[in-house]
Amino acid sequence: MQKSSCPVRNRYATAVWNYADERLGLSELLAFAGKKQVPQHKHSFWYYWGGISLFFFLVQCLTGVLLLVYYRPGAEAYESVRQITYDIEFGWLVRSAHSWSANLMVFAVFVHMFSVFLMKAYRKPREFGWWSGLGLLGLAMVFGFSGYLLPMDELAYFATKVGLEIPMSTPVIGPFLGDLIRGGPEVGEHTVQRFFALHVVILPALFVPLLMFHLWLVQRHGNAIPPGEEAVPAAERESIPFFPNFMMKDVAMWLIALNVLALLASVYPWQLGPPANPIAPAPLGIHPEWYFMSQFQLLKVLGNWFPGITGEILGIGLFTIGGIVWAVIPLYDNDSRNGRRGRIATYIGFGAIAGLIALTAWGYWVL
Ligand code: HEM
Repeated sequence: MQKSSCPVRNRYATAVWNYADERLGLSELLAFAGKKQVPQHKHSFWYYWGGISLFFFLVQCLTGVLLLVYYRPGAEAYESVRQITYDIEFGWLVRSAHSWSANLMVFAVFVHMFSVFLMKAYRKPREFGWWSGLGLLGLAMVFGFSGYLLPMDELAYFATKVGLEIPMSTPVIGPFLGDLIRGGPEVGEHTVQRFFALHVVILPALFVPLLMFHLWLVQRHGNAIPPGEEAVPAAERESIPFFPNFMMKDVAMWLIALNVLALLASVYPWQLGPPANPIAPAPLGIHPEWYFMSQFQLLKVLGNWFPGITGEILGIGLFTIGGIVWAVIPLYDNDSRNGRRGRIATYIGFGAIAGLIALTAWGYWVL
């Protein structure tokens, strides 16, 4: 009998496997998946966070499709979300899981990005992993921003209005950007329609291929070894195969992530406020979502210190410079033998973490 690479030892399973393998080349795929080894050391915990981000993204796809069955964009947006929350069986749970998982995903992506940064996994040959990751982070944040408006309740309406102040403070093109995003001079039905198209068609169409590219790069290059472990002689370094050993550990982490999500979604169900009323005054303390809070606070503070256009230009200028420095770090810190550049990059990383946390906390403090 022909030797089979079927992962299950069973006569019938082997027959099915061989049938598919001859036609689809499954053994080659399995060999590609089995090639990768995952290093084992005291920082290995941080290797799970890319997988956790992926898990929450999968939850988003599943719960998002379920919400799509009842959600109606445009003038009926609020009413359809009211029905999902109060009339449809388990609708509240699906909606709550979708909203909590969106926040957990952005949180996991941030942890993943900063751990990748501090482990210097952006160095050659992983530069494209870094850049594709930045693209995924940007898209994940736009996913969150566009989804937040869709229920069209009071909070969604005013939070979107203040959130739009960030792109609208771009010098020269700001007002045009605002009109383009809103579909008119005010946030309304047309904005919901636009955000819906962005949220369920345009963003997934950009995100999924970029994610495939990102994951393919990880499979191709394997996981980076952090600088502290490089001193260990190659023969003494420990590693385990990704498939199936590390993947099983990933699955255990996914189960923990699922439990955290289930607890949050059921104990703290996502609320639906009163419908948006554009002529009512904005409720006190309105602010964008937590992952936009640092930018929002910086713009607010600079706007107070340097009233008018100067504050806006300074704010947008600082983000742009910060974003560029963050993106080109693999070009600057590109050689593990250059200790000075490595140290400067580490300071930049810690500075960015401290700056983001401080600005976000400050933003909530002064609400
Ligand atoms: C939804 C967004 C993302 C998903 C689903 C994702 C997924 C993954 C997965 C599964 C891995 C392999 C396991 C690991 O090392 O954690 C990985 C590795 C990597 N990711 Fe991401 N990622 C995302 C965003 C990002 C971001 C924002 C960055 C940085 C800007 C980034 C940069 C990298 C790099 C450089 C690696 C290679 C790490 C290494 O070699 O150790 N990723 N990603």
